[in-house]
Amino acid sequence: MNRKEGLVFVWPISTRIIHWIIAISFTASLITSFYENYLHYHVAFGWIFGVMLIYRIIWGFVGPRYATFNTFKLKPKDLVWYFQEKIIDRWRKIPPGHNPASSWYTILVVSVGSVIVISGLLLYGIQEAKGIFSFLNTDYYMYMDIVDAVHKYASWFLASWACIHILGVMVEQFYHKTSMVFAMITGYKKSEGEDTDVTPFGVFASYAFIILSVIAFYYIVSTYDNFFTRSKFALINYEKENQVYYHDCGDCHKVYPPFLFPKRSWERIMDKLDNHFGEEITENNISMGARESIKKYLYANSAEHSTREVSYKMLKSIGDGRPKSTSKVMYWRETHADIDPSVYKRKSIKDRSNCSACHKDFEYGNLDDTNIKIPD
Ligand code: HEC
Ligand code: HEC
Repeated sequence: MNRKEGLVFVWPISTRIIHWIIAISFTASLITSFYENYLHYHVAFGWIFGVMLIYRIIWGFVGPRYATFNTFKLKPKDLVWYFQEKIIDRWRKIPPGHNPASSWYTILVVSVGSVIVISGLLLYGIQEAKGIFSFLNTDYYMYMDIVDAVHKYASWFLASWACIHILGVMVEQFYHKTSMVFAMITGYKKSEGEDTDVTPFGVFASYAFIILSVIAFYYIVSTYDNFFTRSKFALINYEKENQVYYHDCGDCHKVYPPFLFPKRSWERIMDKLDNHFGEEITENNISMGARESIKKYLYANSAEHSTREVSYKMLKSIGDGRPKSTSKVMYWRETHADIDPSVYKRKSIKDRSNCSACHKDFEYGNLDDTNIKIPD
């Protein structure tokens, strides 16, 4: 590396790329987390974030001069002095590598980031029954709220520190005028010390990571059913599962998946077929024998017998009640609160109980966040 006056080459391309992929993938997964039907994108960014964290940890041991953990300044005394000096001496010299604040921040990103990635994968497995931990859904679905809380709070915690980190860099840039922002772009820092060597492997690895990230991203979001997003639950063919239910109850509307309601709701619906939402269903429509078969099927597959997210959340929201319509359930109302009531009046929907208008594959028991499309 050619020496430049007053500048040290501290961040080779590999370190800079790790830094920016970590920053971008974290921000992108934070943004996509607000949109349920972008869950695949969220998962894709999360994976990239996770893999880059692992790489950053390895980099901390075998990386170039200023990136390794043994050059980090982690003594509390140093951290205090770092802030004291900031106040006393605006034009103080800065170290070439990590200062005490950025050393601690890197440790925080790597550790809290790992918690976020691991809890995210667990949540995806336990709650959505998807991804590499989908097998945990059956036995651990009752912990989805706890895992959800860990994932969420850890993410907000890290996001807050990211803002503080950006603020710190801005203070360096505009108050101390150390050109800190450009250091992570050009690699040069206004400091004194030895330049970092650029290794061919570092350069190769960094470009390989960009390409791999793009491929992984594309693969995860473009194929519905892949290694990263595979669901434990296959689509259900209700016609095959129970012919009577499929034909007799599917006469006026698509059949509702049994796992939507608790047994006592189904009991209430089945015991009152003579006044079924204003319709009179007689024995001519559905015979007594058929009713028995339908009851048996519904009760055996009701929400209490399911480890799906919908069942768990419906049951929790229903409590002791026994609603006969989803629109009476708080959980349903909350998840659909953003939908303007006029939307349901569209010709293509007609009624809020026409779930399959928006939930593609509803008639196969699929209520995935990623499978929703509101028709015009
Ligand atoms: C004669 C027509 C007809 C038949 C047959 C029928 N339903 Fe319905 N069902 C309706 C109507 C009408 C509604 C009101 C909602 C709507 O407008 O779609 C409804 C609503 C429902 C709902 C509430 C959906 C929600 O969450 O809002 C459930 C559950 C339901 N039916 C179950 C059944 C079952 C189980 C059977 C078979 C035993 C059955 N239905 C057979 C006409 C019918
Ligand atoms: C007008 C379109 C529309 C109709 C009709 C509709 N939904 Fe939805 N539903 C949505 C949208 C959009 C979301 C996602 C809301 C969000 O999370 O931002 C959603 C979310 C859900 C969720 C939560 C999914 C999750 O994992 O977070 C469930 C469960 C659900 N709907 C069930 C139903 C049922 C059952 C019916 C029929 C009684 C129904 N929906 C009717 C549009 C619709």
